[in-house]
Amino acid sequence: MKKSVSTKTAVVYMSKYGASEKYGKIIAKKLSAHLYDLNNITVNETLRPYSSIIWGGGIYAGKINGLDVLKKNIHALSDKRIIVFSVGNTPADRDDILEKVRDKSIPRSVQVRLQFYHFVAKSNFSCLKLSDRMVLAARRIMLLIKPDGLLTDGERLFLVNYGKDIQVIDEEATEPLTKSFSERKE
Ligand SMILES: Cc1cc2nc3c(=O)[nH]c(=O)nc-3n(C[C@H](O)[C@H](O)[C@H](O)COP(=O)(O)O)c2cc1C
Repeated sequence: MKKSVSTKTAVVYMSKYGASEKYGKIIAKKLSAHLYDLNNITVNETLRPYSSIIWGGGIYAGKINGLDVLKKNIHALSDKRIIVFSVGNTPADRDDILEKVRDKSIPRSVQVRLQFYHFVAKSNFSCLKLSDRMVLAARRIMLLIKPDGLLTDGERLFLVNYGKDIQVIDEEATEPLTKSFSERKE
C-alpha cells in the first residue's frame, strides 16, 4: 500500500537559493512523504519515527551542504535507510567529479551505507549573495587565465553559464530515486 511510504519517509533539505528545496518538494510530493527544512528540525527527535530518510543539499566549493549534520547524527539514524541527493551545476554523468564531491562531504566509511543521487540546477545569478558572487568571480578569473586546452567540460560549462539567470530544475531527473521507493517493499 502506498500509505506506508508516506508515513515512513521523510525528505530533509538544506538549501541556500531554493534549488534543493524545489527538488525536495518534488520528491516529497511524488512519494507523499513529509518534507523538512534541516534548519528547522532537531534531527534526532524529528526523524525518529521514519524508516527512510531522503537527505538533500546544494554543492558549494565541491562539498554537499548539510552532510556534516548527517555525519554527526549517523549513529542516531543507524536503523534507517538513507538516501542522499546533491544539487549543483555539475552534470549528472560526471561520476568522476561527483565521487570527489562525496569524498569531500562525508567519510567513505559512512558512504557505504548511503545511496547517492545527483540533480542538476544552475544558479540564479542575480539572486546570489555578494560573498558568493565574489567566490564565483574569482573562480571565473582563474579559469579565464587557464590555458584553453586544460579546461575540463565542467569548467567550460561554468564559464558559459557564468552571470546568467537560469535556475532550471529537472523534475524528470528525480524518477530513478522515487522509483526505487515505489519498487521497494518497506
Ligand atoms: C559560491 C558557489 C559555489 C558553488 N560551487 C559548486 C560546486 O563546487 N559544484 C557544483 O556542482 N555546483 C556549485 N555551485 C552551484 C550550486 O550548487 C547550485 O546553485 C545549487 O543549485 C545550489 O543549491 P541550493 O540553492 O539548494 O543551495 C556553487 C554555487 C555557488 C553560489
